[in-house]
Amino acid sequence: MKGVKKHFEEEASEFDNIIVKLVPDYIQMIDALVSSIPFNKKNSFNVIDLGCGTGYVSMKIKERFPDSNLTCLDFAENMIAQAKIRLNKYKNVNFYLQDIRKFEFDKNYDAVVSSLALHHLETKKEKIKFYTKIFNSLSEGGVFYNADIILGSSESLHKLYIAKWKDFMAQSLPGDEIEDTWMAKHHKEDRPEILLDQLSWLKEIGFSEIDVVWKYYNFAVYGGTKPK
Ligand SMILES: C[S@@+](CC[C@H](N)C(=O)[O-])C[C@H]1O[C@@H](n2cnc3c(N)ncnc32)[C@H](O)[C@@H]1O
Repeated sequence: MKGVKKHFEEEASEFDNIIVKLVPDYIQMIDALVSSIPFNKKNSFNVIDLGCGTGYVSMKIKERFPDSNLTCLDFAENMIAQAKIRLNKYKNVNFYLQDIRKFEFDKNYDAVVSSLALHHLETKKEKIKFYTKIFNSLSEGGVFYNADIILGSSESLHKLYIAKWKDFMAQSLPGDEIEDTWMAKHHKEDRPEILLDQLSWLKEIGFSEIDVVWKYYNFAVYGGTKPK
């Protein structure tokens, strides 16, 4: 996890340029994530963006829900610094420089969202524990949605997903950079899990209305609601 923090500290200034080349339909994926928040646009509710990075998801939340109380959390100082600049013009935004694994939720949230961060939790056990923590922090009727890299349910689907992902990256990046930089980082730092397994963990934890809102091969937006 030390390596993950170092990677994002170093990448912060380039992150916005590169992420759209690495993640297929990143803009559309984040639109699906933010659109999943089921509240009225005029409502004031508590929302947290876990692993907020440079703040793109958070900005989209504020554009859509200007009266929301938004918390942005990340453990990389340089990423949070970019998020602060991006969100400067919005009110009711606060920032936590913290590791999500040590984060004790400070209040009940009506929406917990995350994008491309929770796959960095290293083990299944750690992910289940963290999803449970999210569930416990939610208010009744509150929602959790995650946009993330995932695994398919079989080896052949996994191969297909990786091939399609590389095809996407090859539209704007040279082959050696894809292999030597991005796939190397993926193998070293990313710990994605099978999507259907994650949905069953959410069910076991107590979430209802569990669904996959958006999917492109090995990237998906999924989550559920804490029942009232
Ligand atoms: C790929 S970036 C995604 C940023 C942003 N959510 C987005 O979609 O544009 C992943 C972010 O998660 C953060 N992150 C990873 N593991 C974390 C942890 N354990 N605690 C806090 N932040 C973490 C990284 O610092 C990085 O900013």
